Amino acid sequence: MHLTGKNAIICGGTTGIGFAAAQAFLTAGATVWITGRGEENLQAAAAKLNNPNVRTVVADTSGLAGIAALEQAVKENGAAIHVLLLNSAIVGIQSIAQTTEAEFDAQFNTNVKGHYFTLQKLLPYLADGASVLFTSSASATAATLNTSVYAATKAALNKIAQVAANELAGRKIRVNVVSPGPVATELVLAAPEEVLTHFASSTALQRLGQPEELANAFLFLASDEASFVTGTELLVDGGWTNYAYK
Ligand SMILES: NC(=O)c1ccc[n+]([C@@H]2O[C@H](COP(=O)([O-])OP(=O)(O)OC[C@H]3O[C@@H](n4cnc5c(N)ncnc54)[C@H](OP(=O)(O)O)[C@@H]3O)[C@@H](O)[C@H]2O)c1
Repeated sequence: MHLTGKNAIICGGTTGIGFAAAQAFLTAGATVWITGRGEENLQAAAAKLNNPNVRTVVADTSGLAGIAALEQAVKENGAAIHVLLLNSAIVGIQSIAQTTEAEFDAQFNTNVKGHYFTLQKLLPYLADGASVLFTSSASATAATLNTSVYAATKAALNKIAQVAANELAGRKIRVNVVSPGPVATELVLAAPEEVLTHFASSTALQRLGQPEELANAFLFLASDEASFVTGTELLVDGGWTNYAYK
């Protein structure tokens, strides 16, 4: 699979799954723009990627100002976008009884509203035949305790992606969702050992996923090999969703 000559934007590409996707897209020959909330993380990621085809843009996508900053950078660059990966998210683990309005808004702003309006604002810059990708979560279809807001943000993304696939089909733009199960990113590895053991044992494959395994799925969906795939959700969860013994 290759992305030679393609331009890709990864919203939330500084760490974890987004960073691994950046590595995969660069290796496949793309020019890759990664975004994040701050210059420091972006420069650290760019140094690790160590590739002349990586670009960085500070864009906090939880608000319209950050989205406008990304739109402006894309406009000034002038190149058409062939792959847009909407990956950034924040996670809050609270019961419904404990969740504050601020926590609710923060997750919906970053995980849903930010991606919705990033897609809207970048529509004019997407090449016909582009691939739009959303990072959702296997949590979207589960009902795990203390994930009411996070899971609802991901369920909302799934529906937005389905409608986008229909609305953008006229331009041959494909829109797909990748839903990870538990993956060994910095975010997850910060959890206590017993939580990590529980996550691993709740998958059929009895382990955490690696960010590169998610990146492979994004690479497939971004590439021409997935030319007849649109409006779908690809679970990359080690069997977590349907595992009978968790
Ligand atoms: N890891 C898992 O087990 C797992 C499971 C299911 C789904 N997912 C999903 O996979 C995606 C990536 O997760 P991860 O585990 O790789 O997490 P991560 O390492 O925390 O990565 C999150 C990325 O999003 C960026 N980001 C966060 N808020 C942002 C904002 N307001 N504006 C711009 N960028 C923002 C972060 O960049 P900065 O910090 O530099 O701003 C970072 O690049 C998320 O959508 C997550 O919900 C992960």
